[in-house]
Amino acid sequence: MNLPIFTTPGELDRYLQCHRSRSIGFVPTMGALHLGHQGLIDRARTENNTVIVSIFVNPLQFGANEDLDRYPRQLELDLVLCQSAGVDALFVPTTESIEIADTLTQVIPPPAMMSGLCGCSRIGHFQGVATIVTKLFNIVRPDRAYFGEKDAQQLAIVRRIVRDLYIPVEIVGCPTIRADSGLALSSRNQYLSPLGRSQAAVIYRSLQQAQLLAQQGEQNARSLLAVVAHELATVPEFQLEYLELVDLDTLQSIDTLSQPALVAIAGRIENTRLIDNIVIGK
Ligand code: PAF
Repeated sequence: MNLPIFTTPGELDRYLQCHRSRSIGFVPTMGALHLGHQGLIDRARTENNTVIVSIFVNPLQFGANEDLDRYPRQLELDLVLCQSAGVDALFVPTTESIEIADTLTQVIPPPAMMSGLCGCSRIGHFQGVATIVTKLFNIVRPDRAYFGEKDAQQLAIVRRIVRDLYIPVEIVGCPTIRADSGLALSSRNQYLSPLGRSQAAVIYRSLQQAQLLAQQGEQNARSLLAVVAHELATVPEFQLEYLELVDLDTLQSIDTLSQPALVAIAGRIENTRLIDNIVIGK
């Protein structure tokens, strides 16, 4: 395996010195890579001369009762995927090498973008994401960075931070990659049994109902969300956390679908928290 792996910002910077005159694409991840990540890497590969992937399970974005300790870590498998996807180098920092324990400076996204959706139950999560992503952007200094649309709130917040702080990087959102059942690929799907996975397919099925209704001209948020809730209820094992229709950029709830908007869902199956969304009204 000849994929260079760097653990400190200094080593990565030395490697990147001779690549900075041409474009650098960056895919930040927490590892446990799957075809969804591969989609991000493939897109980065087609649009840039050099592709860097980071793998770091960021403690700042996990709440006290969340799955930081059992979050899947599988570096060997991740290396194989990165190698075969044509990644040029991996950045695998440690909490020490990027001084996470000593990070007293936090990046705080606009509270209105953090308070709803996943922010309701994941207090501090988006501040942790914003802080690590800003650190990584400043270390890698990429031309483009690639994020999945599955994490729609994260994507909207990252776009906003980059705009507000004038961080010189283009944020590229990439479509959600799904299993044949429609289940959005996620590293946390590993926690599900085969039965749980097939039950979880209800999430995307229900989102598609909203899309269909919107295509038929329905604009009322209550009616659109009611069909989603009805479909979700066909799988009683799915414990809904939220179901909302929100503006794509501000993430604020909307009553009437007058422009493209996001139907976003979070909930649990077998105690595994899953999220998904769909854009309707296009
Ligand atoms: O989406 C993720 O995997 C993480 O939130 C990210 C962007 C790598 C920051 O830790």
